[in-house]
Amino acid sequence: MATKTKFQAIRGTRDLLPPETALWNRVEQTAHEVFATFGFGEIRLPVFEPTDLFARAVGGETDIVSKEMYTFTNPTSLAAMVREIEKGGSASSEMGTLADMLPEAEMISLRPEATASVCRAYIEHNMQQLPQPVKLYYMGPMFRRERPQKGRYRQFYQIGAEVLEVARREAAEHDWEKEVRKDAAIDAEVIEMLMTFFAKLELAGTTLYINSIGHNGPDCRSVYMGKLYNELLKIKGKLGADSQRRIATNPLRILDSKLESEQSYIEKLPHMADYLCPGCAAHYAALKHQLEMRGVIYRENWRLVRGLDYYMRTTFEITAQGLGSQNAVCGGGRYDGLVELLGGPPTKGIGFAIGEDRLILSLLESAKAPAQQGRDVYIAWMGERAHATAIRAAKDLRKAGFSVELPPVEQKFGKALGQADKLGAKYALILGDHEVSEGLWTLKTLADGSQAKYTEPELLEHLRKSKAVSS
Ligand code: HAM
Repeated sequence: MATKTKFQAIRGTRDLLPPETALWNRVEQTAHEVFATFGFGEIRLPVFEPTDLFARAVGGETDIVSKEMYTFTNPTSLAAMVREIEKGGSASSEMGTLADMLPEAEMISLRPEATASVCRAYIEHNMQQLPQPVKLYYMGPMFRRERPQKGRYRQFYQIGAEVLEVARREAAEHDWEKEVRKDAAIDAEVIEMLMTFFAKLELAGTTLYINSIGHNGPDCRSVYMGKLYNELLKIKGKLGADSQRRIATNPLRILDSKLESEQSYIEKLPHMADYLCPGCAAHYAALKHQLEMRGVIYRENWRLVRGLDYYMRTTFEITAQGLGSQNAVCGGGRYDGLVELLGGPPTKGIGFAIGEDRLILSLLESAKAPAQQGRDVYIAWMGERAHATAIRAAKDLRKAGFSVELPPVEQKFGKALGQADKLGAKYALILGDHEVSEGLWTLKTLADGSQAKYTEPELLEHLRKSKAVSS
């Protein structure tokens, strides 16, 4: 006999259920509205892409690419290879065995983030020919094989935005200071949009941290990296295994280590701000000025380097309350050159991604979210004639935008009222034969038990008015 299997969501994934999903919808709707007021349009992207896109964009040495991606062979490309081999005896021996060919099969990955995909789409759809800058936003699931904990999942959701703009060399050469001020204004507006979104959601206890990590040039980050490397070698013995390994692979990441025993040593390391080239220093100063002009409050954090390789100049992160150790609710930064690295024209870029799961957690913790997804009206009907009227009333009320629960079978009034209460309904509309023949419907307010009789048009008017007052 077959054993019964009890299926469960895979570790690190979860179901999102009502009433919480109503809050997810409200958050997403607010993002659509706020981002549109800043001139952003929505882009919908595939959930999987060639592995190489992420390896190149995010960086082969990053944790995301080296440890956390869900990667598999594209079954289509594998099937095509098998067909090739099966086609002909001599041909197949010329081409070698399937095992020889496997490395050539296309590897694909579930997206761990979406900036790489937006850049790929910008190139693929020749968006450099559109009026610049191109402002796009997205929302949807991302996948990283991290150790699950509160606020950290293997399938999680991001709401992100990116601003991309063709880089005009002449403009930079002609008046680099003006160009730097323009870029900083774009960075500041992106951050302002983010803070506007959080404010609209009444997200409590947010802190914006900013930093500049300079650019990858011989007069800027390279000088700093040389200095940092030398200093790290001096304290190597004091560092944990991860940081020791990173000295050779990704020394910048050591700065955002959370390991307690390393902190006093890391705190004494040199700061990037002291090694910025004139262009990057001017950009960082202009960014701070621009944020101040917009009334955006920030804190500088020289250790904010971020875990993805594509950043240059501006990096930023926002923390929110009620999240424990995973308190970064959003991260972002500037990534000039990424589009070019992926085969496109020289292009500037800046963007962010909000961890939607964490945003929702923080909203729930600060009780800014509805605890219940109630109904406006529960229709307590009794008798065949009343059933027909109840169906019509439900139709009219729903058309007017009210949420209505219409029980499929007749219930005793006591049971119906109990059910209405359980569902968190505001009103019970009582319809019996008597109400139907009289043309006067009884509306009971469940919070205080009061009730009154209305004609059908009066009832609609009353409900409309009380909804307008409560919203
Ligand atoms: P990120 O810092 O890797 O940046 O992710 C952004 C946000 O996604 C984090 O601050 C966090 O809130 C959320 N997040 C990341 N991993 C998880 C997880 N395992 N579970 C729950 N939430 C998570 C990026 O992804 C960049 N693409 C952001 C960006 C856009 N930079 C420029 N443009």
